Amino acid sequence: MTFLKLGSLFLSLSLLLNLAATSSAGQSGGGAIAVYWGQNPGEGRLSKACRTGNYDFVNIAFLTAFGGGRSPVLDLSGHCNASRGGCAALSRDIRTCQKLGVKVLLSLGGGDAASHSLDSAEDARQVAEYLYNNFLFGKAFSRPLGRAALDGVDFSVAGGSTRKDRLHWEDLAGGLANYSREGRKVLLTAAADCEFRDRTLKRAIAAGVFDAVWVRFFGGATCQYSPENLLPMKLSWERWNAKAKAAALFVGLPAAEDAAAGGGYVPPENFTAQVLPFVSGYPKYGGVMLWDRYYDAANGYSAQVKCEVKDCEVNTDI
Ligand SMILES: *[C@@H]1O[C@H](CO)[C@@H](O)[C@H](O)[C@H]1NC(C)=O
Ligand SMILES: *[C@@H]1O[C@H](CO)[C@@H](O)[C@H](O)[C@H]1NC(C)=O
Ligand SMILES: *[C@@H]1O[C@H](CO)[C@@H](O)[C@H](O)[C@H]1NC(C)=O
Repeated sequence: MTFLKLGSLFLSLSLLLNLAATSSAGQSGGGAIAVYWGQNPGEGRLSKACRTGNYDFVNIAFLTAFGGGRSPVLDLSGHCNASRGGCAALSRDIRTCQKLGVKVLLSLGGGDAASHSLDSAEDARQVAEYLYNNFLFGKAFSRPLGRAALDGVDFSVAGGSTRKDRLHWEDLAGGLANYSREGRKVLLTAAADCEFRDRTLKRAIAAGVFDAVWVRFFGGATCQYSPENLLPMKLSWERWNAKAKAAALFVGLPAAEDAAAGGGYVPPENFTAQVLPFVSGYPKYGGVMLWDRYYDAANGYSAQVKCEVKDCEVNTDI
């Protein structure tokens, strides 16, 4: 197993996985909750999200433009204006989150596939270096999120229209993984549709570089939840578990009815009754990813499923 050499996060992830593996199907707990933050100023501060204690991972969304010689663009949709250094103050919030044990990642991508792509292995290497220097442990002069070092990078990408272009997501992930040091693991995660139709990250996931994959059961996928027929969701989860070379898989869900165009919302009580007993029975089950913090804060989704997904008793002791 590759986990052993990879430092503290992996230890905690594998601990979660062990907990999940030792609980038989039907029991719960032992999972983690991930959320996206950054796409709606109405969602409130990052530090406030972390102080809820509901989240274990927060993906700051998004670095929308990068690669192919583009100037990188961090777009936090009105939270702050990164082009004038106006997002550097987020460093305090990031550190607050990290002190609370929340892993904070920079999410690459977002909706507009045309604004990000990688032309070559060299392009991927340069983007990895840029990310390391500007968001991770590197020492760029002007860092968009200030001096706090993020825990890793999330790939929520769609760009790369040709097969050859898509190869380079693997180069980028591998380049970032190469910056991991003892005690300073660069955490790598990816968001992918529950269907295998989307081939953008297929090779990168197959290369085994991602610590976690958030499998999106929303946005119009045929494998979304339906109360009458759980089979498509179950088959998708089974396939991801059998095929994905990632240490942990998360069930990605909209945090409210309106959170995702194309549906996929599972009411919390349906989730805990119908979905969780099934998904948590798999050894790669890592927990739940919610899109996004705004809708979660409005709907209280994570608050409602927290004690079933995580071990509330265990967590209050930590
Ligand atoms: C951010 O600042 C830049 C530079 O001053 C400005 O051109 C841009 O319009 C601002 N963006 C927003 C969304 O306010
Ligand atoms: C990562 O480092 C290894 C060993 O130095 C090197 O062979 C490999 O090319 C690097 N990978 C990337 C994608 O930069
Ligand atoms: C939740 O589950 C109940 C009982 O199975 C079902 O009737 C209802 O339609 C489900 N709700 C949604 C939104 O799927």
